[in-house]
Amino acid sequence: MDLIVRNAKVNGKLTDIGVKDGKIVKIGKIDEKGEVEIDANGRLASPPFVDPHVHLDAVLTVGDPRYNMSGTLWEGIEIWSERKKKLSKEDVKERAKEAIRWAVAQGILAIRTHVDVCDPSLVALEAMLEVKEEVKDLVDLQIVAFPQEGIVSFPNGENLMRRALEMGADVVGGIPHYEFSREDGIKSIDIILSLAKEFDRDIDVHIDETDDDQSRFLEYLASKTIKEGYQGRVTASHTTAMHSYNNAYAYKLFGVLKKAKMNIIANPLDNIALQGRFDNYPIRRGMTRVKELLKSGINVGFGHDSVMDPWYPLGRYNMLQVAFVGLNLGHMTGYEEIKMAFDAVTKNSAKLMRLDWYGLEEGKDASFVILNAKSEIDAIRLMSEALYVIKNGKVVAKTKPAEYEVNGKKVRMEVKGVYE
Ligand code: FE2
Repeated sequence: MDLIVRNAKVNGKLTDIGVKDGKIVKIGKIDEKGEVEIDANGRLASPPFVDPHVHLDAVLTVGDPRYNMSGTLWEGIEIWSERKKKLSKEDVKERAKEAIRWAVAQGILAIRTHVDVCDPSLVALEAMLEVKEEVKDLVDLQIVAFPQEGIVSFPNGENLMRRALEMGADVVGGIPHYEFSREDGIKSIDIILSLAKEFDRDIDVHIDETDDDQSRFLEYLASKTIKEGYQGRVTASHTTAMHSYNNAYAYKLFGVLKKAKMNIIANPLDNIALQGRFDNYPIRRGMTRVKELLKSGINVGFGHDSVMDPWYPLGRYNMLQVAFVGLNLGHMTGYEEIKMAFDAVTKNSAKLMRLDWYGLEEGKDASFVILNAKSEIDAIRLMSEALYVIKNGKVVAKTKPAEYEVNGKKVRMEVKGVYE
């Protein structure tokens, strides 16, 4: 075998993982010797992290040309429109590739990025299509044609979307709640579905990203998905308005979402920072109903959304940080609920991105991580380092964990018998 990982924790048990020709060929006791051997020392082997929602064309621009002093969405939009004028292919590529290195170092092996196509030059898209090719041995990148300023409201918006898809964007995006009127928003959803069908692409729409409880584009997207037979291929990102819907309406909506096999993405970092800004105390939590959706059987993933950009100034592209914030924000501290948050940054997002290679199972691609923890819960609690990141059977990243010492004695922040 090309690679054998010994003593890894898989589904609660210690085992070996054997890899040949980039595939996982055995999970179980392995007697033969491998070309490369790694001792996981009882640490958790997990399918890799997946970030299903980020804006790589904007990452790492924080402070340029100026910092967001109010921290609001609107000042962020103003700053981005100034920064956008300076975009060049090299600038986008350099920042995106740097962020991707941060991601891979921390165990992310699949990313879906939105790229702003409300720009007649489509320079960011051109840059990201090149990046996708250049990083393909590190990360599986999907590109969403994202009309930041609208499809109907932005001059020539529909044509720009069409050109982006012709150039090779993988997914059709949208932003119906941001269009000038409700009618324009509905029209934009019709265009999204018709483009997706014409080009045979999946859909991932920024939708109802507002605290306005009257923003109800999601129900139309779901209904249209069912009518067009597009079930399972559509993702609704943000849906923060759902936080403010009355329960009777939310209950009815969930039924339609299930019929549409709709995927939902919450972005805990940006959502908590940007929503609730018009509220007086008590201030609403800015996240969609993650726990309720999951418990109704609707697939929910967590995205990072921003990494040091005009909208969210922090982040180091770590999905465990996202899971940590998301579960706290979503009142998901129940024992099983913490594990659900881990799923939201791993397999749920792989499902919505329809990654057929994904999973820590025999026959799947040997793309997985060894985390510096014994369980998923402890990985989140400790925001554990990814000790080894393995992509198609090759170790692409390694991390030496921090060591703590007090009065010369090693300190491990683990409790024996708990979360093992
Ligand atoms: Fe976004």
